[in-house]
Amino acid sequence: MTASHEPPRHVAIIMDGNGRWARSRGLPRSVGHRRGVDRIHPVALACSRRGVEYLTLYAFSTENWRRPGAEVSALLRLLATMIDDEAKTCLRDNLRLRLVGTLEHLSPALQDKVRAAVALNEHNTGLSLCLAFDYGSRDEIVRAARALAADGVAPLEVDERRMSERLFTAGMPDVDLLIRCGGEQRMSNFLMWQAAYAELYFTDVLWPDFGEAEVDAALEAYAARSRRFGGLSQGGTH
Ligand code: FPP
Repeated sequence: MTASHEPPRHVAIIMDGNGRWARSRGLPRSVGHRRGVDRIHPVALACSRRGVEYLTLYAFSTENWRRPGAEVSALLRLLATMIDDEAKTCLRDNLRLRLVGTLEHLSPALQDKVRAAVALNEHNTGLSLCLAFDYGSRDEIVRAARALAADGVAPLEVDERRMSERLFTAGMPDVDLLIRCGGEQRMSNFLMWQAAYAELYFTDVLWPDFGEAEVDAALEAYAARSRRFGGLSQGGTH
């Protein structure tokens, strides 16, 4: 079996555990989310320095709207307060902030803010830092199917390439490494199409404690994996 020595081009992270991090300290969940936001840029920089080209972070899922109203409001406020600063920091560090998901359920003012942040560093050439916001794989796939139908694509012309081109991640490579922190081991409707052949890495570390050492541990585990994409390993039968 051959292990991969190239760094993953595309890493995706399910940033779980903010609530437990806060609860274990007797703090409100919103404090855990705030601390979670603070981890985003250092982790993006660590990935960038290790040769990763795309980092997609699950910030808010289509299912997260079902959380208590106060928590949803706190998450939306966090998005509003972090997005300008993050865009400026990305500009400084040549990272490209992008959005994967939809803005359509946000207020017009917040939509404008997010669009301006994305536009600010669209010419940056470093790692693409993709925030998955109001994102769900099933929703994304339904939207892609609708777009194909609306474009009049005939059933037999529907193929994987045309579907991929209509996903939020159009133009991005598939996910190579999917990390979930916080101890749970599930996909939670995240990048189900794009992560079809991703290596999965789970850790008990809670997202507010996630940093450079955890990035290294995940990349080390990835480097030791043998990727076969459904075929045989090079020169082997197992
Ligand atoms: C899971 O923690 C975390 C989320 C709901 C998504 C991640 C959110 C952030 C890092 C902060 C928000 C970012 C933006 C840009 C708005 P949890 O609450 O499920 O933790 P628990 O499982 O310990 O309760």
